[in-house]
Amino acid sequence: MPVDPHGGKLVQRVAPEQERQKLLREGERYPSLHADEETLLDLENIAVGAFSPLEGFMTREEVERVAAEMLLPNGEVFSLPVLFQQREPPRVVAGESAAIRDVQGQIVGILEIQDVYRLDLPALARQVYGTDSTSHPGVDLLYRKGEYAVGGRIQLLRFPTHRYRKWVMTPAQTRILFAQRGWRTVVAFQTRNPPHRAHEYLQRLGLEIADGLFIHPILGRKKEDDFDSETIMRAYQLLIARFYPQDRVVLAGLATAMRYAGPREAVFHAIVRQNFGATHFIVGRDHAGVGNFYNPYAAHRIFDTLPAPLAITIVKVGAVFHCAVCGEIASERTCPASHEMRRTSVTMTTIRSLLRAGKTPPPELIRPELVGVLQEGLEGSALGV
Ligand code: ADX
Repeated sequence: MPVDPHGGKLVQRVAPEQERQKLLREGERYPSLHADEETLLDLENIAVGAFSPLEGFMTREEVERVAAEMLLPNGEVFSLPVLFQQREPPRVVAGESAAIRDVQGQIVGILEIQDVYRLDLPALARQVYGTDSTSHPGVDLLYRKGEYAVGGRIQLLRFPTHRYRKWVMTPAQTRILFAQRGWRTVVAFQTRNPPHRAHEYLQRLGLEIADGLFIHPILGRKKEDDFDSETIMRAYQLLIARFYPQDRVVLAGLATAMRYAGPREAVFHAIVRQNFGATHFIVGRDHAGVGNFYNPYAAHRIFDTLPAPLAITIVKVGAVFHCAVCGEIASERTCPASHEMRRTSVTMTTIRSLLRAGKTPPPELIRPELVGVLQEGLEGSALGV
């Protein structure tokens, strides 16, 4: 393979079929730990190796090292905590096993408990998100999940039921697919949105520099005003079918919550895409940012200050906009500064507010062919789909 998973090997914590029934029976005797939707998604991500080298939910020692130094105790770079949080003190002790149960109470996995601990959530938020304010959606989610945590290795016994299933691929599957297509270099694109013109500019840049483009939108929980997963994927299917060389693009969903942790999340996103087999990763302006919490280029600079370099190559791109003088989409590196007054920034916030106001966003911001899908998405989101 062109790129090893982070930490050298793809973690595999899905119980083999011949042990599954035995483990499910044993699990009935274990104390239960109930997991919410995001925790279940991450349980699966750990089990299939998307979060390699993690083999389980983090212990206190791991969280502290990751928060303070962006390192796991084994010396691998890792930038975000991956936690199994609880609102009440869990009735389990280190050294025993627990049955992880889904929202319906069904056993989905086993946790070999290594640590049961209490988190200092505001301190953790300041280290990871750079703020302890609940107006930050990632911090708000962290607080709401509770101040207790359990850490330890997991085994997945059943793939949790979730609405993203049809879009998701495992790292093992994408690695095989990239190899089948003969791609030696693969550039991954992270997004939480349907595609607008700036995204497309970045993706075409990716197609210029690598054999294949891997579009990997986040399909987990997002802010209230972000588009739903169905809309994002439908818009991408349309874009790829009509405008991209289809044999050079793979589209799959990554089912995990957006953390909106800006630079720290950019590092996490890059590590995860390396695990899926990407050799390159695009980081644009204000990657994984929210509001004005982060400097738009903090997510570029963080890669120069990591305790160790990543194996995946980071493709950093500055602000992309429409320039009326150039008559096209351009970036700070391709458009002269003297055109500054004639530039229109391309953001999903603008596109969304135009759509909400019943207006059609101009073709400089989004392809007219995609507008209908977004309109339907906005109507659907009112129903909470
Ligand atoms: S993100 O939370 O996933 O980063 P979004 O879906 O908007 O949000 O962005 C996907 C990628 O495109 C990120 O790398 C982001 O930095 C980049 N990007 C989005 N809009 C622009 C823009 N106008 N200029 C440059 N990069 C952009």
